[in-house]
Amino acid sequence: MSSKPWGGRFESPTDEFVELFNASINVDARMYAEDIAGSRAHAHMLCEQGIISREDLNDILRGLDDVLGEIESGEFEFTVALEDVHMNIESRLTDKIGDAGKRLHTARSRNDQVATDTRLYLRRRTDELLIRIRHLQSVLVKLADEHAGTIMPGFTHLQTAQPVTLGHHLLAYVEMLDRDAGRFFDARKRLNRSPLGSAALAGTTFPINREMTAEALGFDGPTANSLDAVSDRDFIIELLAAASICAVHLSRFSEELILWMSAQFKFVELPDAFCTGSSIMPQKKNPDMPELVRGKTGRIIGGLMAMLTTVKGLPLAYNKDMQEDKTAVFDALDQLEASLRVFGDMMPGMQVNKDAMYRAASSGFATATDLADTLVRHGVPFREAHEIVGKSVAHCIKADIELHKMDQAACSAIDEHLTADMVQALSVEACVAAREHIGGTAPSQVKAQVKAWKKALKQ
Ligand code: ARG
Repeated sequence: MSSKPWGGRFESPTDEFVELFNASINVDARMYAEDIAGSRAHAHMLCEQGIISREDLNDILRGLDDVLGEIESGEFEFTVALEDVHMNIESRLTDKIGDAGKRLHTARSRNDQVATDTRLYLRRRTDELLIRIRHLQSVLVKLADEHAGTIMPGFTHLQTAQPVTLGHHLLAYVEMLDRDAGRFFDARKRLNRSPLGSAALAGTTFPINREMTAEALGFDGPTANSLDAVSDRDFIIELLAAASICAVHLSRFSEELILWMSAQFKFVELPDAFCTGSSIMPQKKNPDMPELVRGKTGRIIGGLMAMLTTVKGLPLAYNKDMQEDKTAVFDALDQLEASLRVFGDMMPGMQVNKDAMYRAASSGFATATDLADTLVRHGVPFREAHEIVGKSVAHCIKADIELHKMDQAACSAIDEHLTADMVQALSVEACVAAREHIGGTAPSQVKAQVKAWKKALKQ
């Protein structure tokens, strides 16, 4: 017999480099536990349905336990000649238990096997990612609580716009992360169907029980169409899309931290343990972690593009192209998980320079909108108020003063409605406190949101 499980119809051996090119073992070996779990469920079902004997089942279960032990102790040698995790394990099982091992693959194909293993593996990874996302949310909620009243400038176009609270800013990311978790959760629901029993593409002639294997593996039920089940990689694309969006959120956050840590902003200081120095410039402390997280986002999005492109021209059903799916999705999830971990560990150590934030919020005319609102309350139509404040800002720029430093003469020269009392009443504290409604930046609103998040995240 040929050394390959599929070697029967071949006359000459596989080219040496082709063997390497064809193999996926270096990528898919990490699914060994899922492969063994899938085989156990399949073997139980084969026995229950009278397709293999109880004796064979017992041999298979014992053999699979041994193989699992070998893998976990590091004894097991995965070989490229056996291509992938499925054939490496099956071959070792057969070495150990003989004929019973050869019966395991009855009513099964690597096509439904790999689809099953991948779903099981990614289900587990999704659950782990969800825990990481929830953890980072908790970390940010705690920080938001501490900084519910910390005033900083809010930006649009990266120009000073209106004062906001740091707590409010941080909670914006908690919202984004919540939608990210929702996307992973939704993808998980759809991927949790069992392809096992679809066999190569058309199903099998044996009297299998797909409900049984689906249930044993914790799936919500079997997939409904065998052709779809072995060729569907939507679940991978969905996870990559969810990962890409989450990475984009972390990347935006990273960009802000990098700006905030610069000498020009000086808003925050990241802990030493999460920064590095320069080998030539002794003064440097670089925000490498956020930079790397921002950088990895490109790689994660690359995975999504790779997978969409790989699948787009494929006819039904299985095609070998699909073997590339795991490289893309494993790497993306690894990088995202690591990024979430770094953020979760780094953020509690971030030091906030409240004075610098306050100073920045107090300059750059961040209270201009509020002055216009005051004029509106005195009966001036908003468009006119906007014009009056615009002129006031122009005056202040020339005079090199802030709005609240305008005297009555300067006010009267601009418009009869404008008074020194109005401009002197402007304070960044009043600006943020006044935005007191659902979704507003007022410290009281931030506190209310923090309370709601703490409750929600406890569940
Ligand atoms: N290693 C393969 C993959 O990852 C397993 C399925 C192979 N099926 C086949 N008919 N060659 O896609």
